[in-house]
Amino acid sequence: MGSHTTGMSPDDLKIWLNHFEYHAEHPRCVPPELADVLEPGERQLIANSIATFQLGEQSEGNTLRRAAERFAGARQMPALVRIIELFIREEQRHALLLRSFMEDHRIPLRRSHWTDQAFRRLRRLAGLELYVCVLITAELIGNVYYRVLESATGCRRLKVLCRTLVADELAHVAFESQLLQALRAARPAWARTLIRLTHRAFFVATASVVCLTHRSLLRHAGYDARSFLRLCLAQYDFYLEPVSETLASSSAP
Ligand SMILES: [Fe+2]
Ligand SMILES: [Fe+2]
Repeated sequence: MGSHTTGMSPDDLKIWLNHFEYHAEHPRCVPPELADVLEPGERQLIANSIATFQLGEQSEGNTLRRAAERFAGARQMPALVRIIELFIREEQRHALLLRSFMEDHRIPLRRSHWTDQAFRRLRRLAGLELYVCVLITAELIGNVYYRVLESATGCRRLKVLCRTLVADELAHVAFESQLLQALRAARPAWARTLIRLTHRAFFVATASVVCLTHRSLLRHAGYDARSFLRLCLAQYDFYLEPVSETLASSSAP
């Protein structure tokens, strides 16, 4: 089987490999001279919330690594394995950045949370496609969350930390959405439709759980369930509703 069967050409993979290699050598970081004051009330407001997201960023990546190796091995795509390896390391850097902020402000780390366990269990269920599907769900919602956290805090260091994470995550979701669309393209149209509807329902359910479990912070930042879900869905549509299919179906006789 050639790499064209994934819908991601060797050139696409090369572009992503360059991207991840560049950022592995030049990781985005938070300048140490930034003001780092977190008021006690604010610390209390964000502590549980940020700890849950820190936990989500933290992963050895073994399941993803194995899924990528299986998938890429059958298609002779060594670049994909390397990209995934660099991606995992970038996520581990995110976990470290959040961890050092939390430690400096004596915010306790979380060892587990039911939402994190649910996500990890789901990702272990099947191959690369389901893994990426679950992963991009978390990352799209994470991107909205970090922007909300940035707007909620007066701490300069935390604001820049959130922006730093979002800058990396935007590339992650772009890569994952391209990979996912490519994986789905190999399926018949009816299966694609079914998968898209299921993914969207899963996305809305997950965003609703995040909304519920982080409601104090969201409320403080001026978001209610409706506005938070709207923001999340806008991200979902931008990355995962394939424009080409919409155009193709609207121009079909
Ligand atoms: Fe991340
Ligand atoms: Fe990410």
